Amino acid sequence: MNLLIQLLVIILAFISHKHEAIAQSPNTYTSLVFPVTKHTDTTKPLYSVRIKATDYMDTQSSYSNYLIDIDAPVIWHDCIPDWKTYPVPCHSENEACMEVQPYSYKNPSCHPNSNRKIPGWGYCSCPVNVVNPVTGSCENTVFNYDYFTMNTSNGKNVLNGVYGATPTGSCASSSSFKSFPKDVKGVMTFSSSPYALPASLNLYGELVKKITALCLPSKSSAPGVLFTGTGPYYLLPQSNVDIRSLLSYTPLLDNPNSFGYFISIKAIVIKNRSINIPADATTKLSTTEPYTTLRTDIFTRVARRFSMVTKRIPTAKPIAPFDRCFRRSTNGTKVGFKVPNIDFSLQGGKTWTISTANSIKQMTKDVACLALVDGGATSVPAITIGTFQFEDNFVVFDLENSTFGFSSSLLSKKTSCANFNFTQLM
Ligand SMILES: *[C@@H]1O[C@H](CO)[C@@H](O)[C@H](O)[C@H]1NC(C)=O
Ligand SMILES: *[C@@H]1O[C@H](CO)[C@@H](O)[C@H](O)[C@H]1NC(C)=O
Ligand SMILES: *[C@@H]1O[C@H](CO)[C@@H](O)[C@H](O)[C@H]1NC(C)=O
Ligand SMILES: *[C@@H]1O[C@H](CO)[C@@H](O)[C@H](O)[C@H]1NC(C)=O
Ligand SMILES: *[C@@H]1O[C@H](CO)[C@@H](O)[C@H](O)[C@H]1NC(C)=O
Repeated sequence: MNLLIQLLVIILAFISHKHEAIAQSPNTYTSLVFPVTKHTDTTKPLYSVRIKATDYMDTQSSYSNYLIDIDAPVIWHDCIPDWKTYPVPCHSENEACMEVQPYSYKNPSCHPNSNRKIPGWGYCSCPVNVVNPVTGSCENTVFNYDYFTMNTSNGKNVLNGVYGATPTGSCASSSSFKSFPKDVKGVMTFSSSPYALPASLNLYGELVKKITALCLPSKSSAPGVLFTGTGPYYLLPQSNVDIRSLLSYTPLLDNPNSFGYFISIKAIVIKNRSINIPADATTKLSTTEPYTTLRTDIFTRVARRFSMVTKRIPTAKPIAPFDRCFRRSTNGTKVGFKVPNIDFSLQGGKTWTISTANSIKQMTKDVACLALVDGGATSVPAITIGTFQFEDNFVVFDLENSTFGFSSSLLSKKTSCANFNFTQLM
């Protein structure tokens, strides 16, 4: 088939999808909604969203789990071998390919990505390098037009209309996903990149705001929730409390070298003692790092203060990667366990409170540890907030207003991330 005709077919298919999507949604939606699964079959817990993908001829579709990544420049996934994919042609032949090249990961460990011919298409395809968030290694992928169908929401339930989007993503061979959780075959990007999902939803106008609300579950047994779009957002059993009313905000900081999200922690406060954070220390938010990591100078002061305020709790031999651990039972009887909060005092004056559920991780039946990690003396960024600290916290990455919203633990507000009502209204 002639390239131009192929393109036309694809564009027509996309446009008709789009109309269908809007026509099917009589209820007014404010966001798109996805269930979030916690996976524990890998070396670190990872979290995924479930999304429906359709081939561009609209003949096949399937649900897949995509790892939630708030840092990566592009969406990437398994190339489904017997699907009709629509690869973007290579550099010299195509503007879309030229435009994505600056987003391709550059590192000496990535071997140069030679243009690969896709059988049956008769032209070379567009190479993009990505970083595997599980192994940290470089993966060669092929740039590609995707089609995703997503559920709409009013913040309370799933509505009966779906929303279609056609981001340009990238696909890689199945071997790239060997280190991923068993049922996860892709990376869904919610970063500030123009190729991330939030920016890709608005190719036809400002329908869905560039706001990602994330609520990571603490267990694998019940899903958490991710929204893209404005609120309201509700969690059971308080069906009339818009979660936005529980949020505090701090500015998101620009970082010219990253599409990830950065904030500024001014001080870490533990039981009225404030540990000031040096002005050069930036804080990154991560959905793929398991624990909050602190540069050694900061870690040492926080750990010392924490030991002081917990000196009545019997300690235990440290279990890596942690170095402050506690005994949780005496002669087989579990002892009550509550430690002082760790407060992150943020730019703008608001406080993100890390309470026991997010500061202490149960390691064995009898031992629990302070879930903070020493990142080394030269760690950049100085602080990375990891997923253990996000679980059962409702957070919002708002690219419209450049703010980060956070609830602190929902458990003290009598709800959790596993409490979205996924019942679909008919
Ligand atoms: C929409 O949500 C319903 C109910 O939660 C689910 O059964 C369905 O698979 C979802 N559809 C898409 C396209 O995600
Ligand atoms: C912290 O200090 C304030 C005022 O100095 C005092 O009222 C409060 O009880 C102190 N809190 C703790 C946990 O020590
Ligand atoms: C634990 O059990 C031993 C032997 O039964 C007893 O001597 C000891 O006092 C107990 N310790 C505590 C803290 O209860
Ligand atoms: C974002 O900014 C708009 C307009 O300035 C304002 O109406 C809205 O309340 C802001 N949203 C948040 C979450 O602060
Ligand atoms: C979930 O939403 C449906 C539809 O609004 C409602 O009928 C049901 O009672 C809700 N579930 C709970 C547990 O509130």
